[in-house]
Formats: sequence, C-alpha cells, structure tokens
Amino acid sequence: MSGKKAKIELEGKTYELPTFEGSEGEKAVDISSLRNQSGYITYDNGYGNTGSTKSSITFLDGEKGILRYRGYNIDELCEKASFLEVAYLLINKALPTKTQLDAFEKNIKEHTMINEDYKHYFDVWPRSAHPMGILASAISGLAAFYDDCLNPNDQKQAHIATIRLLAKMPTFAAYAYKKSMGQPFIYPKNKLGYCGNFLNMMYSCPTDEYKVDPDMERALNQLLIIHADHEQNCSTSAVKVIGSSQANLFAAVAGGINALWGPLHGGANQAVLEMLEEIHVNGGDVTKYVARAKDKNDSFKLMGFGHRVYKNFDPRATIIKRSCDIILNKMGIHDPLLDIAKKLEEIALKDSYFIEKKLYPNVDFYSGIIYKAMGFPVNMFTVLFSLGRLPGWIAQWKEMIEDPESKIARPRQIYTGEKQRNIVPIMER
Ligand code: SDX
Repeated sequence: MSGKKAKIELEGKTYELPTFEGSEGEKAVDISSLRNQSGYITYDNGYGNTGSTKSSITFLDGEKGILRYRGYNIDELCEKASFLEVAYLLINKALPTKTQLDAFEKNIKEHTMINEDYKHYFDVWPRSAHPMGILASAISGLAAFYDDCLNPNDQKQAHIATIRLLAKMPTFAAYAYKKSMGQPFIYPKNKLGYCGNFLNMMYSCPTDEYKVDPDMERALNQLLIIHADHEQNCSTSAVKVIGSSQANLFAAVAGGINALWGPLHGGANQAVLEMLEEIHVNGGDVTKYVARAKDKNDSFKLMGFGHRVYKNFDPRATIIKRSCDIILNKMGIHDPLLDIAKKLEEIALKDSYFIEKKLYPNVDFYSGIIYKAMGFPVNMFTVLFSLGRLPGWIAQWKEMIEDPESKIARPRQIYTGEKQRNIVPIMER
C-alpha cells in the first residue's frame, strides 16, 4: 500500500480507503472495505475504471501506446523472439534459456496429435460450421479425454494441461479448416517449427508436397506474438472468472474462445474484412461509411477502430501494418481492400469525430488484411487470434490460481426491479 488514504463522504460521514500504486505508477483506491464501512458499493458499467486484479504479466499504456510482456516491449519481442519463447516468458515469468526452450518445444511436439477417437468428433459438424464454435467445443472436450490434468491446484496437472493446450490448439484449428474444405486432416509434423507445422496442417494436401514459405512463417510468428496477451481484456477476464470457480483450465480457455468470438472483441478482425468487402462491393465510397459511423442514429461502427484502453495508436496495429506491406509485396498481391483500408484510416485520422473520441486503428484493423493475404479464410481470423492469445490466457489464469489472495469472482449489482408483490391467480391476471 502507498500509505495515502482516499476520503469519501457519504450522508455526512467520511470514510477513509487505502490506496496503492503499481510498478509503472498506476494508482488505485482499494474499495474492498467500502460496503462493510458504508453500505455503499461502487458502480462501473463495463469495468472501464475498475481493476479486477494486480498482475505482473502485461503492462500497457493506452495514452502512450505502450505494450510490454513481462517488461519487454512488443516490437523487440516481435523482432527477436519466437512465439514459443514469448509463450514461455508469459507463463514462466522469464525468457527461457536455450535448454529450457528446447525442452519446452520438445514437450509441446510430443502432444500435437489428437487422440484418434477424438478425430471422429469432427464428423458431427456441418462443413459450414464456424471454426470458432468447433474450436471452443474441441478445447472444452479435452477435459473429457484428459481427466488426469483437471485439478488447477496441482502444479504438475496444470503444467501438462498447459502443454496439451499449446500443442493441440493449432491441430484443432487446422482440422476445423480442413473439415470446412472437405479435405483430409494433415497430421502434425514434428520436424517443423510451431508456426510452420500449423501452416503445413492448414495448407498441405496428400496430393502435393507443401513447402512452408519462410516469410509466411515469420509473419505468423509475429502475428501470434502481438496477440499473445493484453492484460484484463474481455476474453482473458472470461477465462479468469471461469477459472476462479476452480473449474479446469480446458473449461476456462473454452470460455475465453467464446468471449473472443464477439465482433466487438476478437471477432472484429473478421468484421473488418466484411466491412471492407461491403464498402468495396458498394463502389468503395469510404466517406459514406465514415459518415454512417459518425451518425448517432446509425448503429454502424468502423470495425477495427477504437479501443477501451488505447486512446492513441495501438502499437500492434503499427507493427502489423509494416508486415502487411511486406507480405502483400512478397505475394505480389494488389488487394483493393487494403487500398480501402488505407483510405479509411487516412480519412478517419483527420476527422474531428475520431480525433475527439480518440478512435485509432486497433490490432484487428490490419490483422484481417494480412491474414487474407496469407490465404486464411475470413472465418479463420478469430481462430488465429485465439492461437495467439492462448499463452496469455494460460499465464493470467496461472497467476490467479497461484495467488493466495484470489477469490471466486462474484460482482455485486444494484437492483432496479419490482418491489415485493404477491402472485395473482392466473384466472385473475
Ligand atoms: C480487441 O480490451 C482489449 O484489450 C481488446 C483487444 C485485445 O487484444 O484483447 O485489444 C482486442 O478487442 C480490439 C477491439 C476490436 N473491436 C473493434 O474494432 C470493434 C469496433 N470498436 C468499438 O466497438 C469500440 O471502440 C470498442 C468496443 C473497441 C471499445 O468500446 P468502448 O471503450 O466501450 O468505447 P465506447 O463504445 O463507449 O465508444 C466511445 C464513443 C461512443 O460514442 P459516444 O456514445 O461517446 O457518442 O466512441 C464511439 C462510440 O459510439 N465509437 C465508435 C467506434 N468505437 C467507439 N464510433 C464509430 N466507430 C467505432 N469503431
């Protein structure tokens, strides 16, 4: 605690509440004694001003556009680290030594295959099934297959559940895609790296030898890193609320996948492409859509713009925008949607509405375009977000489980419904 007190006056009485400060100078009033002292609770719709936890995993400064995992800047990690190195960092609090990373990668490679019985699970889905629905169910179903690692308080079990999730999620994701294509599943190949193996399972076919493109592998590595964690966002909070009841890690992560699916959250990357496609199909008049986004009476929002925390450029969007150009030039793709995206960004960043409301392009604005350039179908974009966010969900869950102060999540409410009344017999209603 910082020792400073916050004073709040209610109905003539003054209450003192402790405050404390984080390692980056963020300040908080600890209101945990407020209701006992005063009978009042606080109200904060959407929790925009409420800290749910203390965490040493990720720091972001929305005003300055800073994002750090365990103290390392996101752009340095993208440039110098592999995704599994970053996953290790998030989960184990430090970058791995070469020996530790080799052991971590070997451990994951030993679990990439799906139980052959579990493969029949994919038979029930129609080819049109959204891969996020398949993925969430497949991850939840791991609890049925692996009931030897469901105890969140047993470190050995939590570790093997972590390895199984990191190892099998790419396989499930690729199988969901192959199901939609009506193509045979491709087994994991342990001689490939994490990203190369996923690309191979996605795009390899029994008919032809698939060669992993190193630029694609590098771009995917970077995309997974920038999505790896983002403090207490919606899906991470969902993972932690579920995990706070001591439910198993598979159940908690399945909840995170479902929360991420929403178009206001991870589903925005799919929604961005659908918006750009709509603009393109309707003649490419960007100004019409910017006007709609500003119109209070129109529910249309510019997908990929705005952020609960970033009131400046999302540093991840900056990194992706650079990769976008490299991949598109490399693939020799002239994507009209990218032209529309750049026009949208140009207009929005000069428009007073967006400037006043501090609506900048976020991570989803460009990720959809680069995923499209890499050949991923639109309905796989949020699946890719899930693959990236998985180590963050696990790290945040682990930090909560290992925190002796953590409790079951149970927010309060203010009731605004009917007062006590008696039932009127149905024939008299
Ligand atoms: C992610 O939290 C995270 O960290 C999330 C994430 C992560 O890594 O986990 O970063 C990933 O989810 C990124 C966000 C992806 N979502 C989108 O791109 C969807 C479009 N964006 C909006 O829906 C919105 O900006 C949110 C949901 C992202 C943030 O909403 P807030 O913080 O609740 O802000 P708000 O909705 O209250 O908006 C404030 C004002 C409103 O106008 P007023 O009521 O004040 O007049 O800005 C307007 C909004 O109408 N506004 C927009 C807008 N976003 C907000 N107007 C037009 N277009 C938009 N995109």
